[in-house]
Amino acid sequence: MRRCGLCVALDAPDLATAEGWADAVAPHAGLLKVGLELFSAEGGAAVRRIATRRPVFLDVKLHDIPNTVAGAVRSLAPLGPAWITIHAAGGPAMVEAARKAAEAAGGVARPRILAVTVLTSIDAATLSETGVSGGPVQQVLRLARLAMAAGADGLVCSPREVAPIRDALGELPVLVVPGVRPAGSAADDQARTATPEQVARDGADWIVVGRPITQAADPAEAAWSIAQALRVN
Ligand code: C5P
Repeated sequence: MRRCGLCVALDAPDLATAEGWADAVAPHAGLLKVGLELFSAEGGAAVRRIATRRPVFLDVKLHDIPNTVAGAVRSLAPLGPAWITIHAAGGPAMVEAARKAAEAAGGVARPRILAVTVLTSIDAATLSETGVSGGPVQQVLRLARLAMAAGADGLVCSPREVAPIRDALGELPVLVVPGVRPAGSAADDQARTATPEQVARDGADWIVVGRPITQAADPAEAAWSIAQALRVN
């Protein structure tokens, strides 16, 4: 049975706040996520500083023409992130360009490329407003196949698509899953959610949890409790 780890999303406005959270949760987390809020405020220093605690998942969700995405991956790789996110919706040439740039820039310790399928905040109605018919599961599977065929190392999907992706694509793709909420905690702006226990049982490699930990009265205790929930599966 595969082990599912905890990645904590450090969505802070400044590095001091993020480093405080990182120190509190590091004993219970295998990965720490630097996202757009922190990276926009602090740039590469955020990745370098947080990486002194745990490997960094740099969630910048690149989505542009292949040449521009390849250039961004080349610029980000020296910061030393373990993972960089791109949008699968950028198409196979963009995914392939990101993979090749990561390989060229990073050698053996290259950053791994994670392709985001459909954002966890998007429900069926919103997806259809963007012109996509068929619902989230169908669209996630389409993008997952496209991204893995084009060389992505793994996928970001919501809790609802973990089991369908394992059924369709097998054990190989690394699955990283935000939108996870312990029983009884607020969904916030997430639409397609499930509990840590369920996501681990379905076959995720990592769950990504932000506000239920960082906004808790005791972030260390909240992270510990979620890490425990992952273990009992
Ligand atoms: O606070 P919360 O647990 O909702 O944080 C989830 C994190 O995962 C956020 O940093 C968000 O940017 C990120 N994320 C997501 N859905 C995706 C990809 C990333 O919520 N599809």
